[in-house]
Amino acid sequence: MRIAHISDLHFWHVTLDIRRLAGKRLLGMGNLLLNRVWKYRMETMPALVERILEIKPDHVLVTGDLTTTALEEEFSAVREALEPLAPTPSSLTVIPGNHDRYTRESARSRAFERHFAEFAPSVGFPWLKRIDGNAGILGLDPTHPNPISALGTITREHLMRAAKLLDEAEPGIERLLVACHYPVALPAGIVEGHGHGLRGCKELQAFLAHWGPNLYCHGHVHASWAFCPSGLPRTLCLDPGAALKVRKRSGVRASMFEIILAGKSVEVIRHVMREEVWSVESVASAPDFFNGGAKARDGGERKGFQ
Ligand SMILES: [Fe+2]
Ligand SMILES: [Fe+2]
Repeated sequence: MRIAHISDLHFWHVTLDIRRLAGKRLLGMGNLLLNRVWKYRMETMPALVERILEIKPDHVLVTGDLTTTALEEEFSAVREALEPLAPTPSSLTVIPGNHDRYTRESARSRAFERHFAEFAPSVGFPWLKRIDGNAGILGLDPTHPNPISALGTITREHLMRAAKLLDEAEPGIERLLVACHYPVALPAGIVEGHGHGLRGCKELQAFLAHWGPNLYCHGHVHASWAFCPSGLPRTLCLDPGAALKVRKRSGVRASMFEIILAGKSVEVIRHVMREEVWSVESVASAPDFFNGGAKARDGGERKGFQ
């Protein structure tokens, strides 16, 4: 089966409505106007959607930060843009990022759920969505509004409920993808920004070690990589990078992953658009991954860009 994995679309909308600028959104709007409007190019979205349709995925996974300050206009626009990728609710999976719960009001009013609940197998996280026979996506949600930071929190209780879902899955999930917005580990040389990380990360690492082999599909860092952390040889961490971010140094204007599952094997192909031209590169390939992980080929190695 073929899965298209994208993340951190960061659709944005400028508002100067003072009632909607209360709290953290004022900060976010300043950052948007000074910085993000130049980097996150929504006009590239049709080309990205076209590319995804070209590879004919069986499933599309979006790992959060669909919006910038969780405005209704942003949610509506990104929902509409994703429409061609969702012929049925079962063919698209969407989890929230911290920007989708940017303000207390957006979290309280369940703004993300109002636009994307139909793609979840149940109300509330965690959930387990079967995508093919013995393959499934476990959706985790450590996101919550913060006064200033971009921190997430994964609780022991959340992970215990996730474990119960996997324990009780019938038939059992043999090819597990875990979808969670925050990275669980960073490749060598990458340093997490202050106030940007995940509380409960150690517990999540222990969870992944127990439930390996698995693919850990995330976003948040806006860099693209595929690697197995040295302490988690049976977890292949995948970050496709911020899908519509312009990177001046490399010339990249859009990026996505194509994940191919066949029997016990996994292959991950990065698609990047430089100016108008798409190119592909294999970033991970493990023929027997779902037997023993990718230790032999990908252990600790990083192949990516920022
Ligand atoms: Fe992001
Ligand atoms: Fe994020």
